[in-house]
Amino acid sequence: MSLKIGFIGTGGIASCHLENLAKLEGVQVVSFYDLDAPRAQKAAAAFDGAKAFASMDDMLDGAALDGVYVCVPPLAHGDAELRLMERNIPFLVEKPLGINAEVPADIAEQLKEKKLITSVGYHWRYNESTGHAKRLLADSQPGMALGYWMGGMPMVPWWRVQTGSGGQFVEQTTHIVDLLRCLCGEVREVYAAYALRVMHEKVPGTDVPDVGTVTLKLANGMVATISNTCLLPVGHHVGLDLYTNKGVLEIRSGELREIAPDGVTTFGSTTNPYFMEDEAFIYALRTGDASRILSDYADALRTHEVTIAANESALSGQPVSLT
Ligand SMILES: NC(=O)c1ccc[n+]([C@@H]2O[C@H](COP(=O)([O-])OP(=O)(O)OC[C@H]3O[C@@H](n4cnc5c(N)ncnc54)[C@H](O)[C@@H]3O)[C@@H](O)[C@H]2O)c1
Repeated sequence: MSLKIGFIGTGGIASCHLENLAKLEGVQVVSFYDLDAPRAQKAAAAFDGAKAFASMDDMLDGAALDGVYVCVPPLAHGDAELRLMERNIPFLVEKPLGINAEVPADIAEQLKEKKLITSVGYHWRYNESTGHAKRLLADSQPGMALGYWMGGMPMVPWWRVQTGSGGQFVEQTTHIVDLLRCLCGEVREVYAAYALRVMHEKVPGTDVPDVGTVTLKLANGMVATISNTCLLPVGHHVGLDLYTNKGVLEIRSGELREIAPDGVTTFGSTTNPYFMEDEAFIYALRTGDASRILSDYADALRTHEVTIAANESALSGQPVSLT
């Protein structure tokens, strides 16, 4: 029997998941809800028999859904997850989990009692480069890491406002924080410096910092800095470099370069991490086996806490400890 899937939020990232789901056998996307009703209608029109709903409750009560994708902007989290938990419907939610610490922490607390399948859109975990890095790290001693998200500003209107996105470190650079956690373990302390230098003059209404650097201390003794900017007119580094007793591992999305005394080895990639993420979620819904899901809500919360702590540190000027 086909799995019935619904979507809450039908913007850019929803289209990416929809494209993947269309390639998977035994998956029927049946329900759509978006605050912007014509968007939901347009999405529904592309799937045979699918329906756009005028309210989230109508959608969730309208068909027996096996799973729901929550693809709303950071500010809009909370409502959808609570309604899904009330109805025991598994969900895949896009990162970041929210714009503050409280709403995601409350959801995570309620999930503990539910044992619901969840997945979070930290797709870098599904990159082949992450798997290669894990294997290479198992045989080496990492000392430090440098992470980057250096680029331009996404032009969706909620992104440029702190109360819409939580800022670049929370919204975008969270992928690099998550990758660092995935490869090197938990973060114990952060100290951040942010500034807004250019983008408020270029794009009216911008109040998110457009440059920032965060220093992190890890539980295993490593130190790291992760820097980001959204003021560039061109794309630059996005990735993580790890410095170990064996050499350097440079991770750039799907690609990994190992720089060692005997030369440089490049590991490419043949898979699409977004597809792998969707396939893992659908497999979990079908079988109950969630072992292919590489980021669930409880784990993603720890990444989110690091990014929120960085925001707090940038405001206070003080280091923030994480327990
Ligand atoms: N994993 C990734 O690599 C990746 C890539 C892009 C975006 N994202 C994340 O996905 C989320 C959405 O990004 P996007 O680019 O699709 O944004 P978008 O603005 O293109 O789409 C968001 C959609 O959500 C709708 N919406 C807003 N509030 C809603 C609510 N309360 N209920 C229902 N619908 C609501 C909007 O009308 C819009 O159609 C963001 O958190 C973003 O960080 C993740």
